[in-house]
Amino acid sequence: METTEAFVGLTCVDCGETFDAEAATHRCPDCGGILDPEYDYDRIGLTPETLDARPDGSMWRYDELLPFPAETAVSLGEGATPLVECPALADAMGVGRVLLKDEGANPTGTFKDRGQAAAMTAAREHGASEVALNSAGNAGQAAAAYAARADLDAHVFLPSRAGFTQKAMTEVHGADLTVADPVDGNSQIGDAGKAYAEAMEEHPEWYSTKTFVTPYRHEGKKTMALELLAQLDWEAPDGVVYPTGGGVGLVGMHKAAREARELGWTDELVPMYAAQAAGCAPVVRAYESGADRHEPLADDEVDTACNGIAIPDPGASHLILEAVRQSDGGAVATTDREILDAAIEVAREEGLEVGATCAAAVSGAFALAESGEFGPDDTVVLLNTGAGNKDVDALRAHLGEREVEAEARADE
Ligand SMILES: Cc1ncc(COP(=O)(O)O)c(C=O)c1O
Ligand SMILES: [Zn+2]
Repeated sequence: METTEAFVGLTCVDCGETFDAEAATHRCPDCGGILDPEYDYDRIGLTPETLDARPDGSMWRYDELLPFPAETAVSLGEGATPLVECPALADAMGVGRVLLKDEGANPTGTFKDRGQAAAMTAAREHGASEVALNSAGNAGQAAAAYAARADLDAHVFLPSRAGFTQKAMTEVHGADLTVADPVDGNSQIGDAGKAYAEAMEEHPEWYSTKTFVTPYRHEGKKTMALELLAQLDWEAPDGVVYPTGGGVGLVGMHKAAREARELGWTDELVPMYAAQAAGCAPVVRAYESGADRHEPLADDEVDTACNGIAIPDPGASHLILEAVRQSDGGAVATTDREILDAAIEVAREEGLEVGATCAAAVSGAFALAESGEFGPDDTVVLLNTGAGNKDVDALRAHLGEREVEAEARADE
C-alpha cells in the first residue's frame, strides 16, 4: 500500500487506539468506533508559499495532508472549486461579504466526489474488486463514477426518494443499483441502509465506501477547508454555513482547520455552522438542548424535500456537535419554504445554481444573520455542496407552488 510520508495510521475516535492502515480498513477492530487518519505534522514540510507555486488542478494539490499521494489517486479532477463573491446576498443579509464555495463544479456535480476519490483510492490500494454503499443519492452516483474510473464493480443502494439524476447516472456509470422497496409510498435512507446491510452479510468481501464506515470520506472532504483557506490567503472566515446530513463534510472541514492551525498556516479555527431542514433537524435539536448526541427521528417524522439532508439518524452526530462547539460555530434549522425560496433567490440575484439541499446553507445564513450571529463586518461562506441541476424537480415544483399561490392571491 502506497501512502504519504506523514500519514502514520488510523486512530479510533472512541477508544484512542491507533492501527496500521494496511490491516485496519474500516471501523475500529477493537471497539467498532470511527477511524480517523492520523499524521505526524512534524514530517510535513509544506508551507503556504510552496503551495502557491503549485498548480490548482485538484484536491490532490494537498496530498501531504492526505493518506495517499496524488500519483496513485483515483481521480477525475475533483476539487479546486471556485469561491464566488455574492454581493447581492451580502447586502440582503447585512454582512460584509458572502462567498459561495461552489462544489457544483465537481465531476459528478457534488462534493461527494472528494470523499469517493479518497475512499476509492483506499479500496484499490487494499486490493478490493467490488465496492458497496448506501446513500441518499449523490454519494451513490459519485461512487459509481469513481468505481468506473478505478475499474471496480460498484453496488449502490438508494432510497426511492433519491432523485432521478442520481439513480440514472449510477446506472449510466455501470453500477449495480438497488432502490430500496417503498414503504408507505417512498423509502428513506434507512431502508436503503437495511438493504445494503443485508447484502453485505451475504457478500462480506465487498469493500464499503459508506459514510464513516470507511475512514477516508471525511478525509477527502476536508480538502474543502484547505482550499477555502488558501483562497482566503489563510485568513479564517467568520463562519462557514454547511448543509448537514451525516456531517461528513463538516467534520472533515473542521479537522482541516485544526491541521492548518497546528501547522501555523492560520491563527484561528473556522467557525462551522450546521444548517438543517426544520423537517429533519436532529443535530440542531441536540445542539440547542446542549446534548452530546442526537435523538433519532422516526422515518415517518422526516418531512423535507431536501434529499441530501433527510438523514434522521446521523451516526456521527457527536463529532458534528463537537466540531460546531469547538470552532465556536452553531446550528440552525429553516423551513423547506425558506430553503427553496433561498435557492431561487440565489439563482435570480447572483445567477448561481444551488441544489435544494444546499440552499439550507443559504436560508440558514440568513437566519443566523437575522439573529445577530453575523454582523456587518463579517465574511460568511456558504458551502454549496452540489449543483442546482441535480435537484431540479424540487426546485421546479417549488416554483410551480409559488405560481399557484400567486394566482390564488390575485383572485382574492
Ligand atoms: C448535496 C448534498 N449536500 C449535503 C449533504 C450532506 O452531507 P454530509 O454527510 O457531509 O452532511 C449531502 C448528502 O447526501 C448532499 O448530497
Ligand atoms: Zn476503538
